[in-house]
Amino acid sequence: LASIRVDVSGVTEGTQLTVLWQGKPVFIRYRTAEEIEAANAVELSDLPDQLAENANLDASSDATDANRALPNPEGSDAAPGAWLVQMGVCTHLGCVPLGQEGNFGGWFCPCHGSHYDTSGRIRQGPAPRNLPIPVASFVDATTIQLG
Ligand code: FES
Repeated sequence: LASIRVDVSGVTEGTQLTVLWQGKPVFIRYRTAEEIEAANAVELSDLPDQLAENANLDASSDATDANRALPNPEGSDAAPGAWLVQMGVCTHLGCVPLGQEGNFGGWFCPCHGSHYDTSGRIRQGPAPRNLPIPVASFVDATTIQLG
């Protein structure tokens, strides 16, 4: 499948870029220290979906925040785990969740009320799985390749 390269030089801490890839939105978020901290504070046992749902990792990888975040580019001064890249497609029936909304400060799907945390993991509502993480990597300091 076709890959694309996304310039993220304009994405500052605490902001999100949404791009369209293979006809679907992809959320590229540069998370704040508070968002990373909140994501790391969650016990795996509190997660409805305890799998990372990360196409870059083995399918059995667990849903720690470290297994969800995109590794920083070499030489980056961003906090470890600052970048989160995930499909902007609710795992319930496919609506596009809203950013920085809902009960867990991550994403909220208004269609039927699914709440995702700052790691994109489902925490409350009808969605069965965490927001999927596509194949992604930094190819240089300011460019992310999807696919
Ligand atoms: Fe998101 Fe139903 S499509 S909650």
